[in-house]
Amino acid sequence: MAASAPGKLILFGEHAVVFGEPALSTAINLRAEVYARPHPEWRADGGSIDEPRYRYVKAAVAKVKTSGPLWLEIRSMVPSGAGLGSSAAVTVATLGTLHGIGGSIDAKTIAREGFEVEHEVQGRASPIDTSTASAGGGLLVLPKPQDGLLWTIERDARRWCLHRTDLPSLDFVIGNSGISAATGPLVANVKERVDRSREAAGAVREIGRITLDGLDALRRNDLVEAGHLMDRNHALLTQLGVGHPMLDRLADAARKTSYGAKLTGAGGGGSIVALSDRPQETVEAIRAAGGKAFVVRSDPTGVATL
Ligand code: PMV
Repeated sequence: MAASAPGKLILFGEHAVVFGEPALSTAINLRAEVYARPHPEWRADGGSIDEPRYRYVKAAVAKVKTSGPLWLEIRSMVPSGAGLGSSAAVTVATLGTLHGIGGSIDAKTIAREGFEVEHEVQGRASPIDTSTASAGGGLLVLPKPQDGLLWTIERDARRWCLHRTDLPSLDFVIGNSGISAATGPLVANVKERVDRSREAAGAVREIGRITLDGLDALRRNDLVEAGHLMDRNHALLTQLGVGHPMLDRLADAARKTSYGAKLTGAGGGGSIVALSDRPQETVEAIRAAGGKAFVVRSDPTGVATL
């Protein structure tokens, strides 16, 4: 048995989504695959499943009953620590494989279990990564249900309503700083700032408004406006303390041939995303500025057995 799940790209709203603000994401055409076959004891890539790097896999295994232990093999095209949802893709692909052995995979069940895994392993989180990896395509997270509702996830008096949203088919240029930063502490630092600073709380709300305006702009194909909103979203994230000089450098380099650019995912390192209709030129500019650059597209397929 084997299953795969996509990485994700947050176009607007990371961090603010943890506080219940809207966010927009898309699954991307970089996927994680997890293979399983029966074995006398649990193994991950031939080694111990207790190794720290398999903590998401181990927590996913604890969620699903299997008839016996398995040898799991994990292959991922999603670079880790790059803000592209690699842990969510591996978690969701693992859950897909385990449920596949039982005979049925249901994206909603897997999205809920995936969120629990992420919460257990990483602490405070939103369900955006794990739900995007489960559902595929474009996702809009809102505090209240609207047309296109896929599922609702609740935790500690917070509720996220995950909606299907159609995005135009676009190339996104990723600029990876190569600096890896853990999501959990970044999310915790933003919470501390928001609790003590009215300005930080205001930035979170402004990001929520930008997300909805950004979605409108993308749907109208107004890439100039969408790019402008990405630039503003980047500035607000930097104000919340999740920027990095290297991210500014890559975003500035990308902007010369793009409509706009922002950090994507947890920040503190990781990647930027640029909206460009000259993707190859933007890739070159990011490389010249010292980043690893590549182009991704939306992937409509969520968790799936292979
Ligand atoms: O960088 P990633 O893939 O871990 O994305 C995290 C997105 C956040 O909004 C920062 C956290 C979350 O759980 O929503």
